[in-house]
Amino acid sequence: MYQLQSVSKTYERRGQSVTALDETNLEIPAGDFVAIVGPSGSGKTTLLSLLGGMLAPTSGEILLGGQSLYDLPVEERTILRRDKIGFVFQSFNLVPWLTACENVQIPLLLAGRSGDQQQERALEMLDRVGLADRVDHRPSELSQGQQQRVALARTLANDPQVILADEPTGNLDSGTRQQVMDYLTEFHDDGRTIVMVTHDQEAAAFAGRTIRLVSGVAKDIVVPEAA
Ligand SMILES: Nc1ncnc2c1ncn2[C@@H]1O[C@H](COP(=O)(O)OP(=O)(O)OP(=O)(O)O)[C@@H](O)[C@H]1O
Ligand SMILES: [Mg+2]
Repeated sequence: MYQLQSVSKTYERRGQSVTALDETNLEIPAGDFVAIVGPSGSGKTTLLSLLGGMLAPTSGEILLGGQSLYDLPVEERTILRRDKIGFVFQSFNLVPWLTACENVQIPLLLAGRSGDQQQERALEMLDRVGLADRVDHRPSELSQGQQQRVALARTLANDPQVILADEPTGNLDSGTRQQVMDYLTEFHDDGRTIVMVTHDQEAAAFAGRTIRLVSGVAKDIVVPEAA
Protein backbone atom coordinates (compact mmCIF):
# COMPACT_ATOMS: atom_id res chain seq x y z
CA MET A 1 0.00 0.00 0.00
CA TYR A 2 2.65 2.48 1.17
CA GLN A 3 6.35 2.57 0.45
CA LEU A 4 8.60 5.22 1.93
CA GLN A 5 11.96 5.52 0.27
CA SER A 6 14.60 7.47 2.14
CA VAL A 7 12.07 10.03 3.34
CA SER A 8 13.25 13.08 5.24
CA LYS A 9 11.28 15.99 6.60
CA THR A 10 13.04 19.05 7.94
CA TYR A 11 11.11 22.00 9.32
CA GLU A 12 12.73 25.41 9.01
CA ARG A 13 11.68 27.91 11.62
CA ARG A 14 13.38 31.27 12.20
CA GLY A 15 16.74 30.02 11.05
CA GLN A 16 16.44 26.89 13.16
CA SER A 17 15.92 23.57 11.47
CA VAL A 18 14.35 20.49 13.00
CA THR A 19 14.70 17.15 11.27
CA ALA A 20 11.54 15.24 12.16
CA LEU A 21 12.21 12.32 9.82
CA ASP A 22 15.68 11.32 8.71
CA GLU A 23 15.99 9.21 5.57
CA THR A 24 13.49 6.71 6.82
CA ASN A 25 12.43 3.65 4.83
CA LEU A 26 9.18 1.92 5.54
CA GLU A 27 6.82 -0.47 3.84
CA ILE A 28 3.20 -0.84 4.88
CA PRO A 29 1.43 -3.61 2.96
CA ALA A 30 -2.29 -3.32 2.20
CA GLY A 31 -4.35 -4.72 5.06
CA ASP A 32 -1.75 -3.99 7.74
CA PHE A 33 -2.74 -2.60 11.12
CA VAL A 34 0.26 -0.61 12.30
CA ALA A 35 0.80 1.25 15.56
CA ILE A 36 3.31 4.08 15.50
CA VAL A 37 4.90 4.82 18.87
CA GLY A 38 7.69 7.05 20.09
CA PRO A 39 8.29 9.95 22.48
CA SER A 40 6.71 13.37 22.07
CA GLY A 41 8.38 15.23 19.24
CA SER A 42 9.72 12.08 17.57
CA GLY A 43 7.89 12.78 14.30
CA LYS A 44 4.76 10.62 14.57
CA THR A 45 2.27 13.28 13.45
CA THR A 46 4.72 14.36 10.77
CA LEU A 47 4.80 10.81 9.44
CA LEU A 48 0.99 10.60 9.37
CA SER A 49 0.74 13.95 7.56
CA LEU A 50 3.20 12.72 4.95
CA LEU A 51 1.20 9.49 4.48
CA GLY A 52 -2.00 11.51 4.25
CA GLY A 53 -0.82 13.66 1.38
CA MET A 54 -0.95 16.76 3.55
CA LEU A 55 2.75 17.52 3.92
CA ALA A 56 5.43 17.12 1.27
CA PRO A 57 8.70 15.52 2.36
CA THR A 58 11.92 17.51 2.11
CA SER A 59 13.42 14.61 0.21
CA GLY A 60 12.61 11.02 -0.63
CA GLU A 61 9.56 9.41 -2.11
CA ILE A 62 6.22 8.24 -0.73
CA LEU A 63 4.38 5.74 -2.88
CA LEU A 64 0.72 4.92 -2.35
CA GLY A 65 -0.39 1.98 -4.44
CA GLY A 66 2.79 2.34 -6.48
CA GLN A 67 2.12 5.99 -7.26
CA SER A 68 4.38 8.75 -6.01
CA LEU A 69 2.05 10.84 -3.87
CA TYR A 70 3.90 14.14 -4.12
CA ASP A 71 4.63 13.90 -7.83
CA LEU A 72 0.89 14.13 -8.46
CA PRO A 73 -0.61 17.52 -9.28
CA VAL A 74 -2.24 19.04 -6.19
CA GLU A 75 -5.79 18.51 -7.50
CA GLU A 76 -5.17 14.83 -8.14
CA ARG A 77 -3.65 14.41 -4.73
CA THR A 78 -6.69 16.08 -3.17
CA ILE A 79 -9.03 13.70 -4.99
CA LEU A 80 -6.96 10.69 -4.00
CA ARG A 81 -6.97 11.83 -0.37
CA ARG A 82 -10.72 12.34 -0.46
CA ASP A 83 -11.46 8.95 -2.04
CA LYS A 84 -8.91 6.67 -0.42
CA ILE A 85 -7.82 8.06 2.93
CA GLY A 86 -9.76 8.59 6.14
CA PHE A 87 -8.40 10.60 9.07
CA VAL A 88 -9.14 10.23 12.76
CA PHE A 89 -7.77 12.86 15.13
CA GLN A 90 -7.63 13.19 18.88
CA SER A 91 -9.56 16.42 18.65
CA PHE A 92 -12.54 15.32 16.69
CA ASN A 93 -12.75 18.27 14.30
CA LEU A 94 -16.52 18.11 14.14
CA VAL A 95 -18.26 21.19 12.79
CA PRO A 96 -19.95 22.62 15.92
CA TRP A 97 -23.04 24.07 14.26
CA LEU A 98 -23.91 20.91 12.31
CA THR A 99 -25.78 17.92 13.68
CA ALA A 100 -24.16 14.50 14.00
CA CYS A 101 -25.88 13.41 10.80
CA GLU A 102 -24.76 16.50 8.89
CA ASN A 103 -21.18 16.08 10.09
CA VAL A 104 -21.12 12.53 8.76
CA GLN A 105 -22.57 13.75 5.47
CA ILE A 106 -19.63 16.11 4.78
CA PRO A 107 -17.31 13.66 2.98
CA LEU A 108 -20.28 12.30 1.02
CA LEU A 109 -21.24 15.80 -0.03
CA LEU A 110 -17.66 16.41 -1.14
CA ALA A 111 -17.74 13.15 -3.09
CA GLY A 112 -20.77 14.45 -5.00
CA ARG A 113 -23.48 12.15 -3.60
CA SER A 114 -27.09 13.30 -3.72
CA GLY A 115 -28.74 14.63 -0.57
CA ASP A 116 -30.80 11.46 -0.14
CA GLN A 117 -27.77 9.23 -0.58
CA GLN A 118 -25.78 11.32 1.90
CA GLN A 119 -28.47 11.08 4.52
CA GLU A 120 -29.11 7.40 4.07
CA ARG A 121 -25.42 6.54 4.34
CA ALA A 122 -24.86 8.91 7.29
CA LEU A 123 -27.73 7.34 9.24
CA GLU A 124 -26.41 3.87 8.46
CA MET A 125 -22.93 4.81 9.73
CA LEU A 126 -24.27 6.45 12.89
CA ASP A 127 -26.33 3.35 13.55
CA ARG A 128 -23.21 1.25 13.13
CA VAL A 129 -21.40 3.21 15.86
CA GLY A 130 -24.41 2.98 18.16
CA LEU A 131 -25.68 6.55 17.77
CA ALA A 132 -28.97 6.02 15.94
CA ASP A 133 -30.72 7.97 18.70
CA ARG A 134 -28.36 10.97 18.56
CA VAL A 135 -28.38 11.87 14.87
CA ASP A 136 -29.88 15.34 15.42
CA HIS A 137 -27.58 16.31 18.27
CA ARG A 138 -24.86 18.87 17.81
CA PRO A 139 -21.31 18.12 19.02
CA SER A 140 -21.78 20.24 22.19
CA GLU A 141 -24.80 18.05 23.03
CA LEU A 142 -22.78 14.85 22.84
CA SER A 143 -20.31 13.26 25.25
CA GLN A 144 -16.63 13.04 24.31
CA GLY A 145 -16.92 9.40 23.39
CA GLN A 146 -20.03 10.05 21.31
CA GLN A 147 -18.23 12.86 19.49
CA GLN A 148 -15.34 10.53 18.72
CA ARG A 149 -17.82 7.98 17.38
CA VAL A 150 -19.44 10.60 15.14
CA ALA A 151 -15.95 11.46 13.88
CA LEU A 152 -15.31 7.79 13.24
CA ALA A 153 -18.61 7.41 11.38
CA ARG A 154 -17.67 10.41 9.26
CA THR A 155 -14.26 8.94 8.49
CA LEU A 156 -15.72 5.59 7.51
CA ALA A 157 -18.67 6.98 5.52
CA ASN A 158 -16.69 7.14 2.29
CA ASP A 159 -15.33 3.67 2.76
CA PRO A 160 -11.66 4.73 2.55
CA GLN A 161 -9.00 2.08 1.93
CA VAL A 162 -6.65 3.58 4.49
CA ILE A 163 -7.32 5.01 7.94
CA LEU A 164 -4.74 7.33 9.47
CA ALA A 165 -5.42 7.88 13.15
CA ASP A 166 -3.51 10.27 15.44
CA GLU A 167 -4.06 9.34 19.09
CA PRO A 168 -7.66 8.24 18.46
CA THR A 169 -8.13 7.13 22.06
CA GLY A 170 -6.24 9.98 23.75
CA ASN A 171 -9.19 11.81 25.31
CA LEU A 172 -11.40 8.87 26.11
CA ASP A 173 -12.32 6.82 29.15
CA SER A 174 -11.48 3.13 29.05
CA GLY A 175 -14.96 1.99 27.98
CA THR A 176 -15.10 4.32 25.01
CA ARG A 177 -11.48 3.58 24.19
CA GLN A 178 -12.37 -0.08 23.93
CA GLN A 179 -15.29 0.79 21.64
CA VAL A 180 -13.16 2.90 19.33
CA MET A 181 -10.57 0.13 19.15
CA ASP A 182 -13.32 -2.39 18.39
CA TYR A 183 -14.50 -0.28 15.44
CA LEU A 184 -10.97 0.09 14.13
CA THR A 185 -10.44 -3.66 14.49
CA GLU A 186 -13.70 -4.33 12.66
CA PHE A 187 -12.60 -2.02 9.91
CA HIS A 188 -9.25 -3.78 9.70
CA ASP A 189 -11.03 -7.15 9.55
CA ASP A 190 -12.91 -5.78 6.53
CA GLY A 191 -9.53 -5.62 4.80
CA ARG A 192 -8.61 -1.97 5.32
CA THR A 193 -5.16 -0.62 6.16
CA ILE A 194 -4.79 1.26 9.44
CA VAL A 195 -1.90 3.38 10.63
CA MET A 196 -2.44 4.58 14.20
CA VAL A 197 -0.23 6.84 16.28
CA THR A 198 -0.65 6.10 19.95
CA HIS A 199 0.94 6.56 23.36
CA ASP A 200 -1.43 3.97 24.72
CA GLN A 201 0.10 0.51 25.17
CA GLU A 202 -3.30 -1.14 25.25
CA ALA A 203 -4.35 0.50 21.99
CA ALA A 204 -1.04 -0.46 20.38
CA ALA A 205 -1.70 -4.08 21.35
CA PHE A 206 -4.62 -4.15 18.90
CA ALA A 207 -2.27 -3.60 15.99
CA GLY A 208 -0.45 -6.48 14.36
CA ARG A 209 2.72 -4.48 14.05
CA THR A 210 4.38 -1.70 16.04
CA ILE A 211 6.82 0.80 14.61
CA ARG A 212 8.86 3.05 16.87
CA LEU A 213 10.26 6.35 15.73
CA VAL A 214 13.74 6.91 17.08
CA SER A 215 15.68 10.01 16.05
CA GLY A 216 13.56 10.39 12.95
CA VAL A 217 13.97 6.80 11.79
CA ALA A 218 11.16 4.24 11.79
CA LYS A 219 12.01 0.83 13.21
CA ASP A 220 9.86 -2.24 13.64
CA ILE A 221 9.51 -3.47 17.18
CA VAL A 222 9.68 -7.22 17.23
CA VAL A 223 7.48 -8.60 19.95
CA PRO A 224 8.60 -12.04 21.15
CA GLU A 225 5.93 -14.69 20.67
CA ALA A 226 4.11 -15.51 23.87
CA ALA A 227 5.34 -18.86 25.17
N1 LIG B 1 5.17 23.15 11.54
C1 LIG B 1 6.32 22.93 12.19
N2 LIG B 1 7.32 23.82 12.17
C2 LIG B 1 8.48 23.60 12.82
N3 LIG B 1 8.75 22.48 13.53
C3 LIG B 1 7.78 21.56 13.61
C4 LIG B 1 6.51 21.72 12.96
N4 LIG B 1 5.75 20.63 13.20
C5 LIG B 1 6.50 19.83 13.99
N5 LIG B 1 7.72 20.37 14.24
C6 LIG B 1 8.82 19.74 15.00
O1 LIG B 1 9.09 18.48 14.44
C7 LIG B 1 9.29 17.50 15.45
C8 LIG B 1 8.29 16.35 15.25
O2 LIG B 1 6.96 16.82 15.51
P1 LIG B 1 5.69 15.86 15.48
O3 LIG B 1 4.50 16.71 15.66
O4 LIG B 1 5.75 15.03 14.28
O5 LIG B 1 5.96 14.96 16.78
P2 LIG B 1 5.03 13.84 17.47
O6 LIG B 1 5.85 12.58 17.52
O7 LIG B 1 3.72 13.77 16.80
O8 LIG B 1 4.88 14.40 18.95
P3 LIG B 1 3.62 14.28 19.98
O9 LIG B 1 3.68 12.89 20.54
O10 LIG B 1 3.97 15.30 21.03
O11 LIG B 1 2.37 14.57 19.23
C9 LIG B 1 9.11 18.22 16.78
O12 LIG B 1 10.39 18.46 17.32
C10 LIG B 1 8.41 19.51 16.43
O13 LIG B 1 8.82 20.54 17.27
MG1 LIG C 1 1.74 14.24 17.40
